[in-house]
Amino acid sequence: VTVPVLAIDGPGGAGKGTISRLIAQRLGWHLLDSGSLYRLTALAALRKGVPLDDESRLADIALQLDVVFRADHGKTVIELEGAVVTNDIRTEQVGDSASRVAALPAVRTALLQRQRDFRQAPGLVADGRDMGTVVFTDAPLKIFLTASAEERARRRHLQLREAGMDASLSSLLKEIQARDARDMQRSVAPLVPADDAVELDTTSLSIPEVVEQLTQLLVQKG
Ligand code: C5P
Repeated sequence: VTVPVLAIDGPGGAGKGTISRLIAQRLGWHLLDSGSLYRLTALAALRKGVPLDDESRLADIALQLDVVFRADHGKTVIELEGAVVTNDIRTEQVGDSASRVAALPAVRTALLQRQRDFRQAPGLVADGRDMGTVVFTDAPLKIFLTASAEERARRRHLQLREAGMDASLSSLLKEIQARDARDMQRSVAPLVPADDAVELDTTSLSIPEVVEQLTQLLVQKG
C-alpha cells in the first residue's frame, strides 16, 4: 500500500505552515516543511560564503545538508551541522536567498529524494510550492492555498513580531511580491496549482476554518 500524502502548495504567507502543522497533528501524520530545506541550503551557503548563483556548489551543499528535525514540546527544532538554527532560517534575508537558490534546477534535484523520504506511514502532510506538481504527483489530495499579498504581509508581520523580530509592513509586502514573482516565473517547478489541485483562498478565513475545510476534503477523498 502507498502511504497517503496531503500536498499543500501556495505562495509564502498563505498559512501553509500553520495549517499543515495543525492537520498533521490532528491526523498523527508526518510533516514535511519543504521550504525549510531551501532555507537551510541558503543559510549553509551564506555561512560558507558560497555565491548564491554557483549552481554546482549549491547542489553539493543541498545534497550533503547535515540537518536534524526533532520534536521538542510540540515544536520542531531544526539543527544544521549540530547547531540549532530554528529561528535563523526564518529571517527575510534567508527567505530571499532561499528563493534564489530554489530557482536552480540542480538544487531542486538534489533535494528531491530527501523530500520523498518523509513519506512514511501512516501519512504525510507536505507543505511547499511543488508538492503536488513535482515531488508527490500521486498525492490523493492536493490543495493550493492562497491569500491576497496584503493579507500575507500582515500575517508575516505578526509572525515576526511574535518571534521577537520587527519589520515594516510595506517592506514585507514588497518582499512578498518580489518572491511571488520569482517563484511563479522560474523555469523549473514554477509555483502553479496542479491540474487536480483544489484551490482555497484563505484571505478572509480563520485558521480553524481552513483546518476544518481541509479535513472535510480529506474525509471526502476517503
Ligand atoms: O515556504 P518558505 O517561505 O519557507 O520557502 C522559502 C523559499 O523556498 C520560497 O520562496 C521558494 O522559493 C522556495 N521553495 C520552493 N519549493 C518548495 C518550497 C519552498 O521553491 N517546495
